[in-house]
Amino acid sequence: MELWIATGNAGKMKEFEIQLRELADLKLHTQSEIAGFSPRPEDGKTFLDNARIKTKSLKAVRSKDWVMGEDSGLEVTGLGGLPGIHSARYAGPKASDSENVAKLLKMMQIRAVSDRSARFLCTMIVYTPDGQEWIFTGEMKGTIAKAATGQLGFGYDPVFIPEGETKTLAELGPGYKVRLSHRSKALKAFLEKLNEGAPA
Ligand code: IMP
Repeated sequence: MELWIATGNAGKMKEFEIQLRELADLKLHTQSEIAGFSPRPEDGKTFLDNARIKTKSLKAVRSKDWVMGEDSGLEVTGLGGLPGIHSARYAGPKASDSENVAKLLKMMQIRAVSDRSARFLCTMIVYTPDGQEWIFTGEMKGTIAKAATGQLGFGYDPVFIPEGETKTLAELGPGYKVRLSHRSKALKAFLEKLNEGAPA
């Protein structure tokens, strides 16, 4: 089976490759293989809206293929759920991961946030070759560290300490994430549905 993945995020793609590497019959493709491809802007109001926008953009040019995409982000309780769907652009339209992390820590300091609990959410969409839309979700709970630590992840990994752990995701590494992250849970649900028997 060939699966097209609607992402330009190298960190996410690395996690998908690790999690799916034992499936010898699965060949992964990404939107970057399509010259001139540019997804529609993610201007939805929910993770589901934005997952649909990016996945539909790729399905439009790979209509007969399996196409998967997801939208994910971090919700911090003491910030009323921010950065949420704005996670990738929290510090500005072209913000780097470290700029987003710096803004998050600064906002928590300015607002004297005492409740540092947070969660990552992922909404994944799969379009089957015959045009069905499947939706899967995943969540990972944790807390926000006082400072960034670790080099092994992307995005907010250096400040996210999963529930039951003392280290950040960027210290725990991708091996941890592919077992327990929000994205890996959504992906596992997709693989389970595939195993139940799906259109070829
Ligand atoms: P998206 O590519 O539009 O879904 O943006 C997701 C953004 O949420 C990323 O750029 C990160 O800032 C953040 N994010 C999502 N998942 C993770 C994760 O597993 N670790 C760290 N940050 C994440």
